[in-house]
Amino acid sequence: MNVAILGYGVVGSGVAKVLKENSKTIEEKTGHEFKVTRILDIRDFPLSEYRTIITKNFEDIANDKDIDIVVETMGGVEPAFGFVTTCLEKGKHVVTSNKELVAVKGAQLLATARKNNVNFLFEASVGGGIPVIRPVSRCLAGNNITKVSGILNGTTNYILTKMITEGVSFEAALKNAQELGYAEKDPSADVDGIDAMRKICILASLCFGTHLSPDGVYCEGIRRVTLADVAYAEKFGSVIKLVARAEKLADGKVFAAVSPCFVKKANMLSGVNDVYNACFVDGDMVGDVLMYGKGAGSEATASAVVGDIIDCADNSKERKFFGWEPACEDILSDYTDKETALYVRCTVTDKAEACRRLKSIFGKVVFLWRKDQPENEVAFVTPVMKERQLRKVLSTTGVSVVTTIRIFE
Ligand code: HSE
Repeated sequence: MNVAILGYGVVGSGVAKVLKENSKTIEEKTGHEFKVTRILDIRDFPLSEYRTIITKNFEDIANDKDIDIVVETMGGVEPAFGFVTTCLEKGKHVVTSNKELVAVKGAQLLATARKNNVNFLFEASVGGGIPVIRPVSRCLAGNNITKVSGILNGTTNYILTKMITEGVSFEAALKNAQELGYAEKDPSADVDGIDAMRKICILASLCFGTHLSPDGVYCEGIRRVTLADVAYAEKFGSVIKLVARAEKLADGKVFAAVSPCFVKKANMLSGVNDVYNACFVDGDMVGDVLMYGKGAGSEATASAVVGDIIDCADNSKERKFFGWEPACEDILSDYTDKETALYVRCTVTDKAEACRRLKSIFGKVVFLWRKDQPENEVAFVTPVMKERQLRKVLSTTGVSVVTTIRIFE
């Protein structure tokens, strides 16, 4: 089968590499032969072995009747959305690694694929190389899934791991992640939690059956996490991780949020380090399932794309039953209704008085300490209550809050 690739960047070039280097294995395992016949990119690649098939003109791909499967690895909503829509309408199967596209336009593109009896698959959009989308939609289809959570961004997990294990600054760790090709071109999508938010929206849509738009989902990144917070987390028997969570509530609404959290060392997510991702899915029959693997990187992500290419070839005549429905109303719950405990780092003028006051207001408070703790700094963990109420109470304590981090249960 003939494959075209839109975007010859980190993932697109990885796809060409996997299809070429593992062609024999793929053919032996699946009976399919794949050939990359066109690549779209606005840049020139004069030294590439694919230079003769690289085009700057999308029409060369859209109008090529011999192309069966189009891989979209450009990123962003436009022009990717227009290109993917055209390809689906022209009867081509589309495979994408583009989480922004799937999170924002997933329901629309799934409907277009349905209408044109072709596949629109996106395993690589969540968890890089980890099989997540297919196991959730197929292997766990006998379950009602009400909760999904995990570490879904490799770059931030890499940065946090460096901070925790090597005491490296946030900036130095970010630079290192970019050099290794993990971080997006614009690292704010990673470090501000937006990438993880898009991924949790995709998972929530798939697990709960209704499109969850990223608009309005609570999203907080790791820019404000310091080595002081890392030290206090250690005293609480925890590590700091960027956790993405979604839960289907009894009233039909969906709670979804991305934020740094203290994760207790007894929780398996605490041991997920470097660029690795992990995703917990809670099914009513199976219980907790944990999927773990490399969440970013050229070849790992390309591995997931190639799995989808093979799936398209397996289902080339008859479209797979797969996806979710558009949401007809706002299904997002108010995140401040969620119960949580908070780690708080604050400055005070009179430490003894502040601690006495915090204890009398909150009842049970766990005070934390660290090496070289400034005289005017207090750190503590509150009891569990609704976040809205917690923040209201906190504002009455008289301390000057520097930062807060949720405790992940
Ligand atoms: N920048 C993303 C990450 C790439 O770090 O997880 C994979 O989606």
